[in-house]
Amino acid sequence: MSEVKNRGGFGGKLVAILAAAGSAIGLGNIWRFPYITSENGGGAFIIIYLGCILFLGLPLLIAEFSVGHNTKKNPIDAFATIKRGWGWLGALGLVSVFLIMGYYFVISGWTLNYAYASATNGIGGDFGAFFKEFTSATWAPLICTYLFIVLNHIIIIGGVQGGIEKASKVMMPLLFVILIVLAIYSLWLPEGREALGNVFTPDFSKVTGKTFLDAMGQAFFTLSVGMGAMLIYGSYFQNGTKLSGTAISVVSLDTLVALTAAVIIFSAGVENESGPQLAFVAMPKVFSTMPLGNFWATLFFLLLALAALSSTISMHEAVTSYFVEKRGMSRSAGATLVTIGAMALATVASLSLGVWDGVRIAGMNIFSLLDNFTAIVMLPLLGILTSIFVGWVWKKEDMRAELTAEGGVDATTYPVIRFLLRYVCPVLVSIVFIFGIIDFISSL
Ligand code: PHE
Repeated sequence: MSEVKNRGGFGGKLVAILAAAGSAIGLGNIWRFPYITSENGGGAFIIIYLGCILFLGLPLLIAEFSVGHNTKKNPIDAFATIKRGWGWLGALGLVSVFLIMGYYFVISGWTLNYAYASATNGIGGDFGAFFKEFTSATWAPLICTYLFIVLNHIIIIGGVQGGIEKASKVMMPLLFVILIVLAIYSLWLPEGREALGNVFTPDFSKVTGKTFLDAMGQAFFTLSVGMGAMLIYGSYFQNGTKLSGTAISVVSLDTLVALTAAVIIFSAGVENESGPQLAFVAMPKVFSTMPLGNFWATLFFLLLALAALSSTISMHEAVTSYFVEKRGMSRSAGATLVTIGAMALATVASLSLGVWDGVRIAGMNIFSLLDNFTAIVMLPLLGILTSIFVGWVWKKEDMRAELTAEGGVDATTYPVIRFLLRYVCPVLVSIVFIFGIIDFISSL
């Protein structure tokens, strides 16, 4: 077990929760969840989404933690250690998380520009035009994106305790404080409370097969499951960390933040502006009409940046761990390789919103393709495969031992988790996946 000794690890249980919650809480909660919700009929979508979180996302998160914690290895070796010949599943996750990094870093870069512009009164006039002009430009968004990637890099080379742990301890509390301040402020506005009612009222007429696929994809995305990020964090948990308890804390915090972000955004009365622009066009517009608008806008984009950073470090770490542990590189060399790769892909994604917009696959530019392909195809696929692995391939006694002896699951809850992973996840995810894809293709 000598290879295990030199790995880093989180120093405590609370910080393990903070780091994993940091991975989960990201642009998925504050940028993606509100606009996906408003596109899919508001309250109706939220009900389906919560079902996906509880019955699919939570068991998968527990599964992923346990694979990492059991083996204390990087995603590829972790699967291969439990069952020879299954390393490819870890690799598939890492490829997916790398593709996600490609567009995620670009949006993260935007948050820096928006925070800066809000603080210096730089956004004004036509907010839609500002967004379009900025995101389709060549250099400005690229510089912001690179800056963000460098921030990320600095944290990663700091190591698990010196980098990720320290950063999570500072960023997460700050994120919660900003979120609460913004939520209180938005609920204090009378028109906010009214707008809120409209959005959370379920409208089942908008529910289609694609709604279920969107809800499931969002649930997996927001919990970071299937892609090795939670697996690698699970591998850094101390012995004796309660995996189910940690997973429940992470899921609760993540859901709370998503709902609060929706409250903040919808109470600003922007439910008619849907799509990815929701956070970047509608929000600055609303803030501009409020007293101290620039202050609130700066706070909001700082919140987005913090959430993004605590998520991207987990993506980066998952891929870096592969180069360090499997390819024998030093931590800084492995991290540098991932950073350069991410910069290259992010460059393509960013330019695809501007000068390379003409390059389209299935009608989508590279940016949208990365987003849609990972959320609609890779995440469900990884969900199915991970649940099959843990439910059917992993030796029953070993998995049971990991969860009940070490993982803090009691003997009565264990069969429920196992049942969900063996039957409910593979079957439900497959059904939603197939019907959703059919629905999606016919809508193209
Ligand atoms: N869960 C993050 C979010 O909601 C995204 C993420 C995906 C993080 C995959 C890590 C791995 O923004």
